[in-house]
Amino acid sequence: MDLKVNKVSGLRGKVKIPGDKSISHRAAIIGSLAKGKTLAKNFLFSGDCLSTLRCLEQLGVKFDQPNKNSLIIEGVGLRGFSEPLDVLNVGNSGTTLRILPGILAGQDFFSVLTGDQSARKRPMKRVAEPLKMMGAKIWLRGGDFAPIALLGSPLNGITYLMPVASAQVKTSLLLAGLIARGKTKIIEKVKSRNHTEKMLKLFGASLEEEVEENSITIKGETDLKGVEIDIPNDLSAAAFFIVGALITPSSEITIDNLGINPTRMGIIEVLLKMGAQIEILEERTISEEPRANLLVKTSNLKGVRISDNLIPKLIDEIPIIAIAASQAEGETLIEGAKELRVKETDRIRAITTELKKMGVWVDEFEDGFSIKGPNKLKGARVKSYGDHRMAMALAVAGLVAEGETVIEEADCINISFPSFKEELERACQF
Ligand code: S3P
Repeated sequence: MDLKVNKVSGLRGKVKIPGDKSISHRAAIIGSLAKGKTLAKNFLFSGDCLSTLRCLEQLGVKFDQPNKNSLIIEGVGLRGFSEPLDVLNVGNSGTTLRILPGILAGQDFFSVLTGDQSARKRPMKRVAEPLKMMGAKIWLRGGDFAPIALLGSPLNGITYLMPVASAQVKTSLLLAGLIARGKTKIIEKVKSRNHTEKMLKLFGASLEEEVEENSITIKGETDLKGVEIDIPNDLSAAAFFIVGALITPSSEITIDNLGINPTRMGIIEVLLKMGAQIEILEERTISEEPRANLLVKTSNLKGVRISDNLIPKLIDEIPIIAIAASQAEGETLIEGAKELRVKETDRIRAITTELKKMGVWVDEFEDGFSIKGPNKLKGARVKSYGDHRMAMALAVAGLVAEGETVIEEADCINISFPSFKEELERACQF
């Protein structure tokens, strides 16, 4: 399906953002590992999270949906899963593909994981290698890709220094560590999102954090107990509306109950540095996750340099930061982001190729890109590459372009933000 977008004068009013995708995946998975029922409120029922639920159902977990936004998970305990009768298909979800091996490796059965064309290109050695050190039996297609086969075996705790900053890998290892004998210690060079650590604490896991060393240790064979969780709204989804409001001429929007976990706040830090008018109001913490209400107004932005330790804190927001940069005065430089090349698509290639079609001055590097602005955008026919974040970023670019912008294969937006189009239309009508 194509999505057509035209120039608007601004975005206004309260924008409804769905529940956080990363936290929803974790609620379903960790809730399944617990004993007893978990109620997850504000759960995101989007394509990716539904893939996780389907895989868990094949492993014998039962779910109920008491209302539109809530999920009840009937936990089976650390080793209570049953052998799936068929291959587990994660669809487009890299998070499901990376996290599930952590719980499957220590079960008492055989399982196979695969996914769609994009998921089958996501590197998997980064998860399989440390799991093998714990005693897992895993086979990867071509040594690095799904389909991946696992033969459950007893696991032992390890100490592991993560070579790549990846919360998906960290989560997989922490969950394997929870099932394993002994303690598992994970050390990160650069801190990635810590939703798993926070949620595991909520479920009663035994976790020790050493802030200076950037490490986390989990005690194995510790039972979890089902809980009630309230999931904040997703900052990565909100980012499209935040940038949309900043770059259109007469905007003022509010967003409620938005997750502001510091390990995800890179986008806000960068936009504030660029000169964005964003107010963070009513900060509070519920279910261990900090959240706030945001007020965002049209702003004059200036270019910024983004690199190193900041990258993991905004990795999913780089496509939409590129759109902000296209409207900012001066140069924006993104470096040290080569992980972008192995996301749902090669996002460095995708952003630079599609923004050129819209008239943006952009230069591609191996580990990032630079954009010189401000640019007058022109509407064009652009490709999403089946990548939800590319599709939404290009839609926001269309809000400031002269003439119509047509985004191809835009149905992929359902992966993370099924109500995106409806919310965008509502926010633009005033
Ligand atoms: C995620 C971690 C990030 C992110 C992805 C979601 C998670 O991936 O890009 O969209 O929920 O843990 P990496 O762990 O590969 O950096």
